[in-house]
Amino acid sequence: MKTLKLLKYFAPYKWFLILMLILTYGQTTATLALPDYMARIINQGIVGQDSNVIFSNGLIMLLIALFGGACMVGVGYLASKVATGFAMRLRDEIFTKVESFSLLEFNTFSTASLITRCTNDIQQIQTVLGMLLRLALMAPFMGVGAIIKAYQLAPSMAWIMAIAIGTLILIIATLFITAIPKFTQLQKLVDRLNLVTREILTGLRVIRAFNTESYEEAKFKNANQDLTDVNLFVNRLMVIMQPAMMLILNLTSIAVVWVGAQQINMGSLQIGDMLAFMQYAMQAIFAFLMISIIFIMVPRASVSAERVAEVLDTEATIKDPKRPIKAPLNKGLVEFKDVTFGYAGAEEPVLHHLNFTAVPGETTAFVGSTGSGKSTLVNLIPRFYDVTDGTILVDEVNVRDMRQEDLRARIGYVSQKAVLFSGNVEDNIKYGDPKATRDEVSHAAEIAQASDFIGQLEDGLESPISQGGANVSGGQKQRLAIARALAKKPEIYIFDDSFSSLDFKTDANLRKALEKETKGKTVLIVAQRISTIIQAEKIVVLEAGSIVGQGTHSELLRTCAVYREIASSQLSEAELARALSETDDQAYQGGQLSTGEAL
Ligand SMILES: Nc1ncnc2c1ncn2[C@@H]1O[C@H](COP(=O)(O)OP(=O)(O)O)[C@@H](O)[C@H]1O
Ligand SMILES: [Mg+2]
Repeated sequence: MKTLKLLKYFAPYKWFLILMLILTYGQTTATLALPDYMARIINQGIVGQDSNVIFSNGLIMLLIALFGGACMVGVGYLASKVATGFAMRLRDEIFTKVESFSLLEFNTFSTASLITRCTNDIQQIQTVLGMLLRLALMAPFMGVGAIIKAYQLAPSMAWIMAIAIGTLILIIATLFITAIPKFTQLQKLVDRLNLVTREILTGLRVIRAFNTESYEEAKFKNANQDLTDVNLFVNRLMVIMQPAMMLILNLTSIAVVWVGAQQINMGSLQIGDMLAFMQYAMQAIFAFLMISIIFIMVPRASVSAERVAEVLDTEATIKDPKRPIKAPLNKGLVEFKDVTFGYAGAEEPVLHHLNFTAVPGETTAFVGSTGSGKSTLVNLIPRFYDVTDGTILVDEVNVRDMRQEDLRARIGYVSQKAVLFSGNVEDNIKYGDPKATRDEVSHAAEIAQASDFIGQLEDGLESPISQGGANVSGGQKQRLAIARALAKKPEIYIFDDSFSSLDFKTDANLRKALEKETKGKTVLIVAQRISTIIQAEKIVVLEAGSIVGQGTHSELLRTCAVYREIASSQLSEAELARALSETDDQAYQGGQLSTGEAL
């Protein structure tokens, strides 16, 4: 039972629990004492016509009721406090855990499910825990206490209570067995609804453009209907319980009056005792009712608890080493040694035996058709995934031997899909370096060719960026993402297809400005356009996850068929011819490059 593992987060609340136990005891004792006094008032006060007994016992009853009420308020207060506090703690724990997850764990859980677990599931636990703390502590006291009291009052009528409680247990057991499997289903359906909703809302623009509203609506309706069906089923079961309970209660009362009246007639029972017996019987039935509610609620919460525990139990696959090594150099040399990588669950590796070196002061470019593994390759450097085989060295230290924080501190990464956060333009650029001054921010924006459009915004650097950067264009987003990486001033720059949304002129200007800014740094560029990387000191050509050529533009034109194919599809005859004619001059330089890789 993973659920039990959550108990450790409960430890800080153990004193609350003890206090609640004491208060609950007070409350039930008070409740159980009342019918006794009532019997006395009826038997001695009313039947025996002694007004003193009525007055004094009435006063005592009032005080006991007040005391019981106060205890109940205390229990309610503490129960809410513990339940909400516990839920907050769980949310905190889950969030911290999820933050430590690598992309692998995100793939296994799915974002929608992680969100449901962090919200709906914890809410479920909180609700049930609050109820549990109020009912579960009280019900056993009350049930046992009421049965004993009733038996002491009128043993001759105990069989009525036995039948009532027996029937009750039968009904509860039936409900329990039918309802439990549905609860697991319920949370899964919430997950699914969440997934569908998320997908539809984030893809709304595409849905509109393709006029697929009705299709998506049907998808949503199905998910919604499934959830509603199961919910209805569960709720109907629960609702049946109420009339069944009332019936049992009423039948019990009638039976007590019926049998009691005969006994009173025979003089073997006093009228007050019969009424008190009736109250105890009600209390006992109520106690069993509470226990039944607990039995139905707990499995539901435990499904949620299981799902929460599952997240908390998952260890992030990418962890810091026990004894991290700090790279002695601070240059940004990146080496791939026989690197093979496959995504978890995939049969075939995506990258096969890659060997190359990216040297500080040079630009290393990666080209290849889509799906050839370029993004995967650069994602391995900041350790978003761990290699399956081989090693990646940064400044001659294996990336797995470094602290992730140290490793990532030296990398400026611009992802293929630019991501902005809500805030303003400056916040987004300063994300790279929170200590950056206004001048540094402007400089980074300038280099990234973003200052023009930032200048046109109403509030310049302070212009708001909405969630996900929805209020700027794709190209503007990319430029801000580039500025963010530049503001960080790392040793290693990774641009994963970051220039693709830029027009040719901006692309050219950006590269010229970057060249100066990144002098002496290691620059890795994934690109679609040959023109973006034509000047790169080294171009790595990927095909189906293997390197099929390395060298400069002109070298590759001569030696690499795949590269020639890509280049000839993009460049004019004249450009190709010019590059080939330069080959002879550059051949020597190119040779030097490959031998001079060790710095
Ligand atoms: N998260 C993932 N899980 C499983 N397979 C993936 C994942 N991301 C990419 N792939 C697969 O890896 C291959 C290379 O993808 P990618 O590196 O994105 O290519 P590129 O950037 O060159 O277009 C593709 O065949 C793709 O299907
Ligand atoms: Mg890619």
